[in-house]
Amino acid sequence: MGLPWICFSAFAVCLASCLKFHGHKVIQVQLETEEHVKLIKSMDKTFNLDFWRPDSSSRIAPKMTVDFHIHANHTETILHLLKQNTVHYEVLFHDLQAGIEAQLDNSRLRKSQKHKYNKYNDWDTITDWASKMASEHSDLVRLIDIGNTYEGRPMTVLRVGQSNAEGPAIFMDCGIHAREWISPAFCQWFVRELVSGYSKNEEIKKLLTNLTFYILPVLNIDGYVYTWTEDRMWRKNRSPAEDSDCFGTDLNRNFNVSWCDIGSSDEPCTEIYCGKSAQSEEETKNVANFILSHLKSIKAYISIHAFSQMILYPYSYTYELAPNSKELIPLLDRLMTGLIHKAYNTPSPLSCGTQASVVSSSPSLRYEPPVKKLHWPSNTSPIMFSLILPNKFCYTYCILH
Ligand SMILES: *[C@@H]1O[C@H](CO)[C@@H](O)[C@H](O)[C@H]1NC(C)=O
Ligand SMILES: *[C@@H]1O[C@H](CO)[C@@H](O)[C@H](O)[C@H]1NC(C)=O
Ligand SMILES: *[C@@H]1O[C@H](CO)[C@@H](O)[C@H](O)[C@H]1NC(C)=O
Ligand SMILES: [Zn+2]
Repeated sequence: MGLPWICFSAFAVCLASCLKFHGHKVIQVQLETEEHVKLIKSMDKTFNLDFWRPDSSSRIAPKMTVDFHIHANHTETILHLLKQNTVHYEVLFHDLQAGIEAQLDNSRLRKSQKHKYNKYNDWDTITDWASKMASEHSDLVRLIDIGNTYEGRPMTVLRVGQSNAEGPAIFMDCGIHAREWISPAFCQWFVRELVSGYSKNEEIKKLLTNLTFYILPVLNIDGYVYTWTEDRMWRKNRSPAEDSDCFGTDLNRNFNVSWCDIGSSDEPCTEIYCGKSAQSEEETKNVANFILSHLKSIKAYISIHAFSQMILYPYSYTYELAPNSKELIPLLDRLMTGLIHKAYNTPSPLSCGTQASVVSSSPSLRYEPPVKKLHWPSNTSPIMFSLILPNKFCYTYCILH
């Protein structure tokens, strides 16, 4: 049971109409056999499970750890079925609503709507923050409008770098999936690290002398707003589908590379709907146009997600390795074992690789292909990474998917 949910509309945090998740559970299962996989897939058909990891039942396989969210009404039946079929499971959230409320950090929200780096900020607060970064650090930060979302919100890239020249650049997006709140929080934190580091950290200063970062703090703004006002678990954008009552395209699967291939769905009501055509959505079109118009300078594209502890790299839609994988794998391996391992002191449940060939010491962490559709044709392709932020260290309070 969660605490009574008090709505403060002044703060735009979940209005009275907001979808509630009382009694909903998030379950983690360890799948061993093909029978287990079949069971979960058939349960998905019957109960419409909401997959958190991986993000659809089409990608589950034996020896995998799978997390999904179940409706309160189905809890008893599902847990019974799991027991009956000897599927080992663990309940990650006993009451999802309580988890959401804890995460919203109400008491602090009520006091002020000031931007904070250690809590989640709503969209208006992030917009004000971006303007403030540009005005307070005009030597380093510039805002670039790349077009509007479906609902007409301007998408603003923060260009961070000392040079005005079209030198080498890295593009980073956060919040392509609306409910992955830790991702936009990361982008804001990253911008702060860059601007504050510039004056006191030689390495960052050197980095920003010739290198430019293009940072899009929330790619799926309409969806992000919707997670604050209507449904915390919303993932896609907010454009209505044709010939369907369902809303939203999975923007991550709307790019014009191997579009709507395995791992995506052409069914508008699914969470992995690829849209009616490649780049049919305003948000993906705007990002693609921006990248294409800066192809000479952009050397890498990083997309930040939740949750897992992985770095994914090209390609995601095939088992074939990217041409530069010989350079990439050792680099990413070093990053994983060095930086992240050191920071969190985890044994090694970290993996690094494409969905197709995850370099991992733990087979349960293999991420089956393909998930990431955010690639560019190889002849014009910037190097592409996708970081999935950790789940393990703050499960119950900071990483609701
Ligand atoms: C859950 O059960 C309630 C009460 O029986 C019902 O009103 C509601 O429609 C059910 N929801 C789903 C998703 O089955
Ligand atoms: C930046 O680029 C200039 C011109 O190419 C070069 O001379 C300089 O060494 C570079 N500085 C850093 C810190 O990389
Ligand atoms: C998608 O990519 C193909 C092949 O590069 C190209 O011919 C087509 O025009 C692109 N479509 C869009 C919507 O950009
Ligand atoms: Zn995601």
